[in-house]
Amino acid sequence: MNIKYIEDKRLFKIDTEATSYVIGIVGKEGFVGHAYYGESIEDDDVTYLLRIFEGPFTPDTNERDRLSFYDCFPFEYPTHGIGDFRESALRIEDEAGHYSNNLKYKSHMIYKGKKGLAGLPATWGNEEDSMSLELTLSDYEANIDVVLTYSIFEGVDAVVRSAKIINNSGKAVFLTKAASASIDLDNKDFDKINLYGSWARERHINRTPVSYGIQGMYSKRGEPGHQEHPFTCLLEKNATQTQGEVYGMDLIYSGNFRTITDRNQFDLVRLMTGINPEDFRWKLENGDTFVTPEAVLVYSNEGIGGMSRSFHDLYREHLIRGYYRDKKRPILINNWEATYFDFNEQKLISIVDEASKLGIEMLVMDDGWFGNRFDDNSSLGDWFVNEDKLKGGIKYLVDEVNKRGMKFGIWFEPEMISPVSKLYEAHPEWAIHVEGRKPGLARNQMVLDYTRKDVRDYIYGLIKNVLSSANIEYVKWDMNRPLSDIGGAEIAKDRLGEFMHRYTLGVYEVMERLVTDFPKLLLENCSGGGGRFDAGMLYFGPQIWCSDDADAIERLVIQEGTELIYPLSAMGAHVSDCPNHIVGRVTPFRTRGHVALAGTFGYELDVTRIPEEDRNMIPAQIEMYHKYNDLVRTGDYYRIASYAQNGKFDCWQVVSKDKTTALVTCVLVRRSPNTRSRNIKLQGLACDKRYRLLNEDGSEYINGMAGEEKADRVYYGLTLMNAGINVTEAWGDNQSMLIYVKEV
Ligand code: GLA
Repeated sequence: MNIKYIEDKRLFKIDTEATSYVIGIVGKEGFVGHAYYGESIEDDDVTYLLRIFEGPFTPDTNERDRLSFYDCFPFEYPTHGIGDFRESALRIEDEAGHYSNNLKYKSHMIYKGKKGLAGLPATWGNEEDSMSLELTLSDYEANIDVVLTYSIFEGVDAVVRSAKIINNSGKAVFLTKAASASIDLDNKDFDKINLYGSWARERHINRTPVSYGIQGMYSKRGEPGHQEHPFTCLLEKNATQTQGEVYGMDLIYSGNFRTITDRNQFDLVRLMTGINPEDFRWKLENGDTFVTPEAVLVYSNEGIGGMSRSFHDLYREHLIRGYYRDKKRPILINNWEATYFDFNEQKLISIVDEASKLGIEMLVMDDGWFGNRFDDNSSLGDWFVNEDKLKGGIKYLVDEVNKRGMKFGIWFEPEMISPVSKLYEAHPEWAIHVEGRKPGLARNQMVLDYTRKDVRDYIYGLIKNVLSSANIEYVKWDMNRPLSDIGGAEIAKDRLGEFMHRYTLGVYEVMERLVTDFPKLLLENCSGGGGRFDAGMLYFGPQIWCSDDADAIERLVIQEGTELIYPLSAMGAHVSDCPNHIVGRVTPFRTRGHVALAGTFGYELDVTRIPEEDRNMIPAQIEMYHKYNDLVRTGDYYRIASYAQNGKFDCWQVVSKDKTTALVTCVLVRRSPNTRSRNIKLQGLACDKRYRLLNEDGSEYINGMAGEEKADRVYYGLTLMNAGINVTEAWGDNQSMLIYVKEV
């Protein structure tokens, strides 16, 4: 890991372990261009990659064709209005309404360590394990500076970037675009991957060719949403899980985002991410600064899998914080699918009585414990315990749960207000609305104006009271509708374009207070399932509920998309009720367990009412969780087969960092008649280590050689990776199995 300025060549070179990122200053005026990003290179002069001297558009010698230069130069942070007609990263309007800006090199600073971003989630590091470059560009005519910050981390192949805009123009200006990162790459016949979906089927993988013009994903919902995701990757046409060049870009942000590719006339592809410019207009007074969210760039020449592993390492080691960051999480049972709103303290205690015997470690009391909440039509905002439902109050219930050896967690939806609530009676103006217009409801609720400090203080005060009233060790922070009808009683007319970003900053502020006041609290984010599964949220809580659809087969697709970027340790996954409440599918309890073991693991069912046969399997599942979770949480993830692609069979593998153990999970979704065993190639093992293959009960995995009683075989890692192993088709659909690979 190193960052240097190579003075005679006017190059900045950012080197991670296996990649180089090079920025060049060129021309008499000091244009700043993106020269190279890819596999490591030496400190040579690669300014030729910027093609500035190829003519005929060389600005130093050809003033008459300056616009042609602007329209093809790979700007490191492209501005608007001057003649680069591709998508711009920065657009500033001055008081007269002009919107042309041009940035040139001004100064730079390279230092050890990594600074935080005020009010925003961001990666973190110290002087030993990280390094940063602050590259200041200036619009000398307008007196506006832009500081581009790049940081890297020891042993992680990722570069994080953000931009700070400083207005010294003497007058107020309006930012109407301020991307976090933009990078121009020579097109290598790229495909791109985005994640799309809907409620209960989030983060499905979509791979398409990069075509001319702009393609992209965005959100205007005030959160990323179920439908879109702030991630894009560009990959060579022939790139697979295991080989080929891949460029990934993710955004550490939980609000309106936009991520695009823009392929131009010279086949240069501009890849950009940041706050969605639509509905964004930020007033920057003279002397003020604006800081964008942080973007993460990952390059891998080991295919998609290499990219995923770099994201996982970065997020586990330099984004997620707090008490549970490196710890096994308590196995929880959540009562949502068990009872919905129909519960009281006795019902919950009966669940705990059974759950504690089975080895489950925490009860999470979901929606319905507060105000007058008997269905989803009322009471959001009235965060007072309903003592008719919970006799003796929260303290009594939590004590009873603790007495039975279990922890207690609770559900909140802190950003919401029901029109039927005490809070709305007292403060209708606290709900986001446009004066004089009837706002649209979703799930019969409105959103609180989190741009307001009084609103945030009031709600946080209520949450804090509840959490301080008993031994509550976990919070599920939910958010069940997007933002619409944007307006508020307090925000100034010329600052309405700041609302969406300010809302997100408001949410971050309250979350920060929560994790600061309750440092041992386990915070699990949720948004109607996986509507706000983003890197921003991971800065506050180490895990996020992946989807309201916990059907094991739907989860294969959702979890594959999630794991593309996020570590398994972050993925909220439970064994849920059957037939599944969302798709009605019947899957074996065993398969539900195996699929949930890929995430945080827990239960979402009424343990007192499930078939005895299933209940009897819980202790063994829990034993597996304890046996495998360190590996799953901290290991390297490899995708072996994708049910989403082949429609039949799913397989993934986690390998410990020291390569002594691995866990392979196979799900045989659709059985075919009259087939031979399937051969799968393991990945990520040490070539020269020798391994034994084991079933989940510890017996030897016979490797497709049924009939052999005890083979007692060991295999070199090289063999398991190149010749693979054989997996025999199970009897029936939706069957699964684990293979534990252990060094001898
Ligand atoms: C959302 C969550 C669910 C549950 C309900 C409660 O849909 O995703 O897990 O908490 O809200 O209303």
